Amino acid sequence: MPVHSSEDQAAETVRQLRALTTPEGAAALTRAAALLDAGADAVAGLTRLRAEVGADLAGPAWGIARQRQKARATFGAEADRLLFTADTLEQAGRPELAARRAARLLAGGADSVADLGCAAGTDTIALARAGARVLAVDVDPVARELTAANVEALGLADDVWVLAGDAVELVAAARGGEVAGCSAAVLDPARRAGGKRLLNPDTWSPPWSTVTALLERVPTSVVKVAPGLDHDRVPDGVEAEWVSVGGSIVEALLWGPALSTTWRRATVVRDGEVHEVTADADPGHAPVGPVRGWLHEPDPALIRSGLVSLVAADLGASLVDPTIAYLSSDAAADSPWVSSYRVDEVLPFNLKKLRGLLRTRGVGRVVVKKRGSPIEPESLARQLRTDARGTATVVVTRVAGAPTVLVCDLTT
Ligand SMILES: C[S@@+](CC[C@H](N)C(=O)[O-])C[C@H]1O[C@@H](n2cnc3c(N)ncnc32)[C@H](O)[C@@H]1O
Repeated sequence: MPVHSSEDQAAETVRQLRALTTPEGAAALTRAAALLDAGADAVAGLTRLRAEVGADLAGPAWGIARQRQKARATFGAEADRLLFTADTLEQAGRPELAARRAARLLAGGADSVADLGCAAGTDTIALARAGARVLAVDVDPVARELTAANVEALGLADDVWVLAGDAVELVAAARGGEVAGCSAAVLDPARRAGGKRLLNPDTWSPPWSTVTALLERVPTSVVKVAPGLDHDRVPDGVEAEWVSVGGSIVEALLWGPALSTTWRRATVVRDGEVHEVTADADPGHAPVGPVRGWLHEPDPALIRSGLVSLVAADLGASLVDPTIAYLSSDAAADSPWVSSYRVDEVLPFNLKKLRGLLRTRGVGRVVVKKRGSPIEPESLARQLRTDARGTATVVVTRVAGAPTVLVCDLTT
C-alpha cells in the first residue's frame, strides 16, 4: 500500500519497529548485523536477508542494523540492544554526558523528571539509571515507540512512562515548580530541520519562548541549546555551560536557577577526566601582548564560554591580537585548556618568504592552522609540500592586526 502522508509513514514505521521487537524480529536484526559486520553491501545483504527472514522484516532489520553499527561509536556495545532511526541517532547526545547531566539534575533530591522531547530516549535512559522516575514526552509517535522499546530492552521500563504530548503546552501549564507533575525537567529542543541547522532559536521545536518559560517556571531544569547561542539570550540567574570532548564542543547547557551555581562554566572531558573552569561574572578579555616563545590554542568550550582570560592569567599568557583567541607565553603549558606549540619563527604573511624559510630549514611537510585568515589550510599545506624531511606546524593568523605566520614545532 503506498504511503501518503508523514502520519501514515510514522504509523508504518511504528508497525515495523514493533515487528522487530518480536522473537522473529530480533532474529532478523541479529542476522542483519552479522551480514553488515561481514561487509555485505546493501544489495547483496538485503537480497540474502529477504530470502532468510522474509520481505516484511528484512528492510526494517537492515535499516536498524545499519544505525546500530553507526551508534557503536557513541553507545559502545549497548548500541546492539537499542533501536534508532537515522534522525533520532543524529539527535542523540552522548550517554556519558547524559549521565553527568542526570546526576547534577537529581543531586538536589528531585525524584521525578519530565524528558520533554525524548527522541530515542538517551536522556530518559540516563535519568532512569540515575534513580529518577521519568515521564518521557514526545510529539513524534516514532520517538515514543523507540524510547519505549529502548527502556524495555535495558530493563528500565518500570521507572519510565512514555507520553504523547506537546512540550509547549506542558510548559505553559507548569505550576509550583513542576511540569506535567514532575519536579524536574530536561528539554532538548530539535535544532535541525530538513537536514539543516536552525540558527534562530525562535525556530527550534519547541521554540526559545518555551526554553525561557521552562527555566523560569521549573527551577530544577536543564536545557540543551546550540553551542553558538548568543550570550545575550541567557536569562539572568541561569548558568550556561559549554562542554567539549576531544577538542570539539559537544553540547551547551542552560541550568535552571535551582541548579545554577555560577555565571558561566567551561567543561573539558579528556581521557575520562572532567576539568572545569567557572566564573561568577564576566571576567573580561585577556591582556594583549607580543608573540613569545609559546603559542597556545584554547579549547573551544573555553572560548565559547568567554572564560579565556582566566586560563590566560593562570598561564601568564596574553592574546596575540585583541580579536583572536590565540594566547602566547614564555613557557610551555601543561593544561587541559590549551594545545601548545613552540614558536620557532614569526614572519609577515607572504607565501614566497614562507616557502624560502621552509626550504632553508629543510621542512617539506606542514600542518596548517589558521584563525582570522581567509586561507584554506589544506590547500596551503599542499602548496608548501616538498621532498624535504623536516616537519612544522604553520599558524596563519593576525598579530596586532597584521597578517602573520608563526612557524612552530619545527623538526628537521
Ligand atoms: C533533539 S531531540 C531530543 C534528543 C534526546 N534528548 C536524545 O539525546 O536522544 C528533540 C525531540 O523533541 C521532539 N519535539 C519537538 N517539538 C516538540 C514538542 N513541541 N513537544 C514534544 N516533543 C517535541 C522531537 O520529536 C524530537 O524527538
